[in-house]
Amino acid sequence: MSDVQLTPDGRLRHFLHISGLGPKRLTEILDTAESLRNAAEMRVHKLPLLRGKTVLNLFFEPSTRTRTSFELAAERLSADVVNLNVSASSTVKGESLLDTLHTLEAMHCDLFVIRHQWSGAARFFAEHVGPGVSVLNGGDGAHAHPTQAMLDTFTIRRHRPDLQNLRVVIVGDVMHSRVARSEIVALRTLGVGELRICAPPTLIPEQLDQLGVLIDTDFDRAIHGADVVIMLRLQRERMQGPYLPSSTEYFRRYGLTAERLATAKPGCLVMHPGPMNRGIEIESSVADGLQSVILEQVKNGVAIRMAIMAIVMGANQGLGGSEG
Ligand code: NCD
Repeated sequence: MSDVQLTPDGRLRHFLHISGLGPKRLTEILDTAESLRNAAEMRVHKLPLLRGKTVLNLFFEPSTRTRTSFELAAERLSADVVNLNVSASSTVKGESLLDTLHTLEAMHCDLFVIRHQWSGAARFFAEHVGPGVSVLNGGDGAHAHPTQAMLDTFTIRRHRPDLQNLRVVIVGDVMHSRVARSEIVALRTLGVGELRICAPPTLIPEQLDQLGVLIDTDFDRAIHGADVVIMLRLQRERMQGPYLPSSTEYFRRYGLTAERLATAKPGCLVMHPGPMNRGIEIESSVADGLQSVILEQVKNGVAIRMAIMAIVMGANQGLGGSEG
């Protein structure tokens, strides 16, 4: 199988999307993150796994959690980290993505983390970097956000290890959500019992039914009996044209309220990748409530990103999970 993410001998070199990775490799990432999370909890703040390596964070789109979490992850593995301030870089002077890449590569970076508005940007980087350099996708357009999908899956597995018997509902702006796309593939690959997608008809992408998910436009029906509900932000910055009547109407039909949550399974986990629009897709009392694991998702993001960085750099020996 030819996948740009893998080396010819089948090692994970880049992390660009979840498709094609298979359950064994995803489980290896989750298990590695589990041991790194434990190490972090035992207050071993820095592990020497990426000592001598340089990580470059290249964020062409706004980010709070993802960028900080990649930065902390790299630092906790003892790498040198550079955060390029894109708005103050030569890209605003018209430098091409390829020229930016070659310029940065000339300074000997080992690992690029890229977020870009263009679907395919991370892959483009991966196809052009020199030998030994890895690329991680921090979100490309509406295409993929694989590290977010892995940290969400990790959070679910920590609370509900029996994935085969879970009913998970992803709700909201699926059309523009790279998070949803990657989550669907990750959760399906790991055999989640039932995966429902719930969105207004205008925000359901074409060909979604081919991904083995159930589609429902009625949130009251979709949430019934759910073990996990993942809310998505309305990504207005990616919408061209009127997709929705109004935010009030959207909240009335698709907002996660305490009343709606009461119809899910008792103890149903409430998740959101952030940033949240309180009062639009989620009621504040639910976002901050006892069933919410939203801040835990953020915390788990560091362990997942440490795991992925260690794996692509071949520095994960002895950390749990087997190479495969
Ligand atoms: C998501 C993203 O950027 O795709 N956020 C994140 O990385 N935590 C989701 C979003 O922006 O709504």
